[in-house]
Amino acid sequence: MGQNGYRVAVVGATGNVGREMMNILEERKFPASEVHAIASRRSVGTEVSYGDKTLKCKDLETFDFSKVDLCLMSAGSSVSKDWSPRIGKMGAVVIDNSSQWRYDHDVPLVVPEVNPNAVSGYAKKMIIANPNCSTIQLVVALKPLHDKAKIKRVVVATYQSVSGAGKEGMDELFDQTKSKYVPGVEYAAKKFPKQIAFNVIPHIDVFMEDGFTKEEWKMVAETKKILDPKIKLTATCVRVPVFVGHSEAVNIEFENPISADEAREILRESPGVMVYDKREAGGYITPVECVGEYATYVSRIREDSTVENGLSMWVVSDNLRKGAALNAVQIAESLINRNLLKKAA
Ligand SMILES: NC(=O)c1ccc[n+]([C@@H]2O[C@H](COP(=O)([O-])OP(=O)(O)OC[C@H]3O[C@@H](n4cnc5c(N)ncnc54)[C@H](OP(=O)(O)O)[C@@H]3O)[C@@H](O)[C@H]2O)c1
Repeated sequence: MGQNGYRVAVVGATGNVGREMMNILEERKFPASEVHAIASRRSVGTEVSYGDKTLKCKDLETFDFSKVDLCLMSAGSSVSKDWSPRIGKMGAVVIDNSSQWRYDHDVPLVVPEVNPNAVSGYAKKMIIANPNCSTIQLVVALKPLHDKAKIKRVVVATYQSVSGAGKEGMDELFDQTKSKYVPGVEYAAKKFPKQIAFNVIPHIDVFMEDGFTKEEWKMVAETKKILDPKIKLTATCVRVPVFVGHSEAVNIEFENPISADEAREILRESPGVMVYDKREAGGYITPVECVGEYATYVSRIREDSTVENGLSMWVVSDNLRKGAALNAVQIAESLINRNLLKKAA
């Protein structure tokens, strides 16, 4: 860690997202002079890796946040509700991964490839929100197409991995899968509402009054806030028995004409996007291939002749990386590039 860098706290360091944050800070050589791993009291002393170093977790309740410049927060909404404003008031900029602050008018919601300048609105609460994993990969792929042909309406179905439900979600898929092969061992559904092994579940987060789920609502509200409030979007969010990597089948209706070839060319030149689109067996990206990668992959780009100016495509990304930890670190880098992150005196 450099002498003259930023003092960083990672809250939720033992979790799926927190561990990826440690990896990404190290991989991208984030200019940190100190990195603190923070979790609940249960994890005090638990070791987490930061490059070739091992850090011992500290307790959120007793850690002195006045001694850090940046806090990457990833410990769930109830922790964020209490702690993100408190940490902000102590002077650190908080980049918050939960859904708690995303819809607050005084909190920017940022995907650096899409609305990087929004970071400058952080100062009212000292919080910047990281969007939902499904929204991030979607808007990275939509933005360049919207710039070209103006999106009117999007219909999306998601295929979301169990790691999006935290480490308990991954354990549940692992245990249920194992129990199918070990006679006499049964694992009931706990984290998910029905069996997830060898199954798919059309239900993520709580139900809303109109019959949509909160996860589906988040994709609508967040796309409007980040990209364009005029875009109409409807989503069906589905949990699938994949450990890491979210996939999305996306249908888009544009105001102006755009061909599949044009869309492919535009996306090839777009930041954060990798196009892999061969019209043959295996000529597309699946979630197992995106694990550990930074990019949002776009495949199966084709014209939809059932609507005027319609396109369909398949979008895949690592939900723990671009969908969470990478996006958060990129937001911090955007702050640094704009001289908005102060260093210790
Ligand atoms: N997974 C994704 O794809 C994804 C994407 C975007 C956003 N997010 C959001 O990121 C957050 C974390 O998700 P995750 O998948 O990393 O969950 P996770 O694997 O379940 O990890 C949760 C982390 O929060 C810590 N924590 C929980 N309660 C705490 C408390 N009272 N005080 C201090 N630390 C506490 C845990 O520490 P202990 O080990 O000590 O319990 C652990 O480090 C959630 O808000 C989630 O919605 C997740």
